This record gives sequence, structure tokens and C-alpha cells, in this order.
Amino acid sequence: MIDSSKASLAIGVGLTGAAGFMTGCSQTQKMEALNARLWAPSYDQTPLPYDWNALEPIIDKETMNIHYTKHAATYSKSVKEAMAAESVNGGATSITQLLGSIKKYTSKMRNNAGGHYNHELYWQLMKPGGDKTPDSKLMEAINRDFGSMDAFKKAFEDAGKARFGSGWVWLIVNKDGNLQVVSTPNQDNPLMDIAETKGAPLLAIDVWEHAYYLKYQNRRPDYLTNWWNVVNWSVVKSRFEVVG
Ligand SMILES: [Fe+2]
Repeated sequence: MIDSSKASLAIGVGLTGAAGFMTGCSQTQKMEALNARLWAPSYDQTPLPYDWNALEPIIDKETMNIHYTKHAATYSKSVKEAMAAESVNGGATSITQLLGSIKKYTSKMRNNAGGHYNHELYWQLMKPGGDKTPDSKLMEAINRDFGSMDAFKKAFEDAGKARFGSGWVWLIVNKDGNLQVVSTPNQDNPLMDIAETKGAPLLAIDVWEHAYYLKYQNRRPDYLTNWWNVVNWSVVKSRFEVVG
């Protein structure tokens, strides 16, 4: 286990001052540049920044343990297998770079590179007890683009309810610099060149059944609603300060 404040700090270090460096870039180049400046995990799993039971009663100990040690561990293992088979040098290629060119690789690479990145981000976006809603430029942007925090949360939860089968819901900064809620199937994400809507991810929730079924069974809406109580807004804010 590692200290969550250190994890948050690691995500935020050196990530300020994004504005101004993108003048003259195309929208695609802009999104690539923004995402390159966000924290990118290695291809190994980062230690979970809290104990297995630390998110109870929102997410139970057994779900966290199986999710991290079985599901997420398999994505990390399998993406490295795919990289070896497809001649991707992890020392020279960051995972954000890999995701940004994912269409030229196999479905094994796509599923597992996405799965690894998505879960590494998801763990960092939660903390025991959560944070208060951010009083910052992020709140101003949420109010500007959604009308209110409640309206944003409704849009986010509605996208989670509407995702058929397995997938993720994201709050992104899109190519126009606005906040937007999007959903991706399976282990896809908005960094991928094949994504319907590309963007820089700020917040993400896993709506695969393995993320909630032991506690919530078929009640995905309850998981979505309760999840706000463990959101680590300080990490979301740090990410927004890079790309907002
Ligand atoms: Fe998951």
C-alpha cells in the first residue's frame, strides 16, 4: 500500500501551465499533447493506495480484492504479453502513446492496454471518505458546461445506466476545451484513436459487473449514486489543472 496523498502528489507534480503551448496545433495534436502531460501509469500495477476495505461501505473488501488482484492484474499481465508479441518497447512507448495509436494493434492489445490504463486511473480516482466537491476552476467549468454539479452528476449517472453490457463512463476535456460526459464499451477509453469522442480523461467509473455485482447485484444505479462518496476530487482537480 502507498500513501494516497503521495499518489495524488505524484499525479500532480510538474503538470501545471498547459495553457499557451498548443498554439497552432491541430485538434488531434492538441489532444495528444494534453494527454501526454497527464499522469501515465507504467505497464505494471501501481500498489493500491488504500486498504482493501477502505472504501466500505461503498465498495466492499472482497470486490476490491478480486478486482485488483484478478481482473486488473490480468490486464497488466496480458498487455505485456501483447507488447512482446507485437514488438512494442514499453521503455520507449508510454501507455498514452500506445492508446493513441491502438488501431494498428490486435484486439488483445486494445482490450488489455485499455484495461490496464483504465483500472490504474480508477484506483487513483477514489479515496476513503471521498473529498468534498472541489471549490476551484473545475467547479466553474462544471457549472459552465453542465449548469450545476447536480446536473453533471445526473448526466454521468445516466451514461452509466445507459451503457449496455460492460464499459466505462468518463468526464473528459474534449477537443474544444469543454467538459463532456462520454461512455466507452468494454475497455476502450477516450485516449484511443478509435474512440468515438476523444478527450483528456479527468474522471472515470468502471461499470463492468465485476466492479459492483457482489454488493449491488443488478442495482448498477445504486453503485453509481453511492460512488460519489469515495471520489477523490483533488486528483480530478489536478488533472483538470493540466488540461483545462
Ligand atoms: Fe474493472
